[in-house]
Amino acid sequence: MMEVQIERIRKDIETINSFNATPERGVTRFTFSSEYMGARSYVIEELKKIGAQVSTTLGGNLRGRVEGSERGRTAVMTGSHVDSVFQGGRFDGVSGVVSALEVARVIVEKKIPHHHPIDVIVFAEEEGSRFGSVMMGSRGWIGKLDLDAFRKIKDKDGISYAEAMERSGVAPDDPSILKPEMVKAMIELHIEQSLVLESKGLRIGVVEGINGIKQFMVTLEGISNHAGATPMWLRHDALQGAVRIIAAVEEMVTPDVGNSTVATVGFLNCEPNQTNVIPGRVQFTLDIRDLDFKRVDEAVGRILTVIGKICEERGLTFEIKPRSDTPPVTLSKDIVHLLEEVARRRNIQTLRMASGALHDSSILPEITKVGMIFVPSRDGRSHCPEEFTDLKDIKLGADILLDTVVELAS
Ligand code: CO
Repeated sequence: MMEVQIERIRKDIETINSFNATPERGVTRFTFSSEYMGARSYVIEELKKIGAQVSTTLGGNLRGRVEGSERGRTAVMTGSHVDSVFQGGRFDGVSGVVSALEVARVIVEKKIPHHHPIDVIVFAEEEGSRFGSVMMGSRGWIGKLDLDAFRKIKDKDGISYAEAMERSGVAPDDPSILKPEMVKAMIELHIEQSLVLESKGLRIGVVEGINGIKQFMVTLEGISNHAGATPMWLRHDALQGAVRIIAAVEEMVTPDVGNSTVATVGFLNCEPNQTNVIPGRVQFTLDIRDLDFKRVDEAVGRILTVIGKICEERGLTFEIKPRSDTPPVTLSKDIVHLLEEVARRRNIQTLRMASGALHDSSILPEITKVGMIFVPSRDGRSHCPEEFTDLKDIKLGADILLDTVVELAS
């Protein structure tokens, strides 16, 4: 069986993370900064060593192409990002880039036959840390952000994305919009950024999609009154109503629902918020997510029923305002099956899962079949200096990526 080399992955991760604006305080590598360009140049050098044809795409993404044996075939893309959040971790994005790079190396060195070109991609500004807008590279590439947007979206110093590209000497040498007829598939390896794999003792997750999200602001109105003079049976305490609803929110999503639904009350405001006054008005948010939007709607329905019932019992009025409604993204079922099959051949147990976070892979299903491999994050930590993934797990994920890319490109 073909295998990637763990030592090369180690060196790639170390070298890329040596380009860091905040050494000793996590990794900070903002898109098109000097650190970013250092990491990018390293990837370019490594790609050139294996004879890949390196170019910059629309949106400022880096592409290293290993040509296939037949011209004009659709590309099999794999990659991730090397930009980071402020004082983030060493593995977010980087794991996927170095795995893609190592896969390309093995394919070239072992002369593994493939008809389709294999493209190693480094997407620009995935995190949105510099320009405040996430996944700009991938959105620009598929034509979802035009040149005007790139001139208008600026960093905190007033430098536009277009200007930042120019200053760092990044110019798209291929200005074409990425179209379905140009790509066969995109596979991204990424750290899980959560606790699920670790809690189950598994090392590989196969991502089925990215969770859909519904958020609401709930306002309960009762009657503010004297905390000493008002007997319990004459109160309309908005906070007492709210705590019963909030307790019920957890019950509405835990039991028989297949426990993929998650619900959070993350914001709460109590008025007047005084020790000796009965709360008259409480506002709280509801955030409900699942890969299956039907389950989100079912959970919302159950929660709304509870809100109505508790408010009626307690003489409270309520208002529920929708705040966001983001449908899930479904990744390719064919690729899910392929990833599982490839893992089975290697005797590796996998877990189908949803991604709680967005990735460039959430943008690309519009134009191609997309798959994602998750590797565990220790203690579920991410976007912080403590972020850690075992190199052996990255190696295992990269082995699966290798087989998958070879199969798709053959
Ligand atoms: Co990432």
